[in-house]
Amino acid sequence: MEMIEVQNLKKGYRIAKKSAGMMGNLRHLVMPRYDTLEAVRGISFRIEEGESVAFLGLNGAGKSTTIKMLTGIMKPSEGTVKIMGKDPFTNRIENARRIGVVFGQKSQLWWDIPVIESFRLLKNIYGIPKRQYERNMEKFGEILGIHEFLSQPARKLSLGQRVRADLAASLLHEPPVLFLDVNWCKGFACA
Ligand SMILES: Nc1ncnc2c1ncn2[C@@H]1O[C@H](COP(=O)(O)OP(=O)(O)OP(=O)(O)O)[C@@H](O)[C@H]1O
Ligand SMILES: [Mg+2]
Repeated sequence: MEMIEVQNLKKGYRIAKKSAGMMGNLRHLVMPRYDTLEAVRGISFRIEEGESVAFLGLNGAGKSTTIKMLTGIMKPSEGTVKIMGKDPFTNRIENARRIGVVFGQKSQLWWDIPVIESFRLLKNIYGIPKRQYERNMEKFGEILGIHEFLSQPARKLSLGQRVRADLAASLLHEPPVLFLDVNWCKGFACA
């Protein structure tokens, strides 16, 4: 089955064209001018069920922008995205059940409450049955070692612990598609 289908995907960001300093700011107020930064310039690919695909590129190459369009957070300037046959941007709620996502720079855990409470909230939001919830929490304890910090608020976790908790949180509802926009060498201990 085709899980992800991307055709001629493009994103241009509108950025202010102004010179530095107060004069530049003033001129921009009176006569704003913009440039378009072509962050993603027409990419196409297909990903089948069971495939794991890594996406490489220099800083600023457009990886995060692409993932934001694939997850339905951002509307493409041009082209189409299909996640299991549906446009993620126009079917956001439905799409949320099909995908899990980890953004390295932004946690999906609630910052000030114990990590376990974030998992309980996600359980309610996704309507996850008790049996599935318990089975998965046990698995995450074994594989990701999250049990040792479940009573801590997310803001007190180390970066690696936070990434482990976020990964578990993205898998709790057992999504068929998982997106990872993470610098693993920052998240886990890398050689
Ligand atoms: N919201 C935004 N508004 C304007 N420009 C943006 C915005 N977000 C990203 N950009 C620009 O778009 C380009 C692609 O950025 P993006 O974050 O997609 O790169 P990336 O491949 O994820 O980089 P990194 O490896 O550093 O994470 C960069 O030139 C960036 O400055
Ligand atoms: Mg990025």
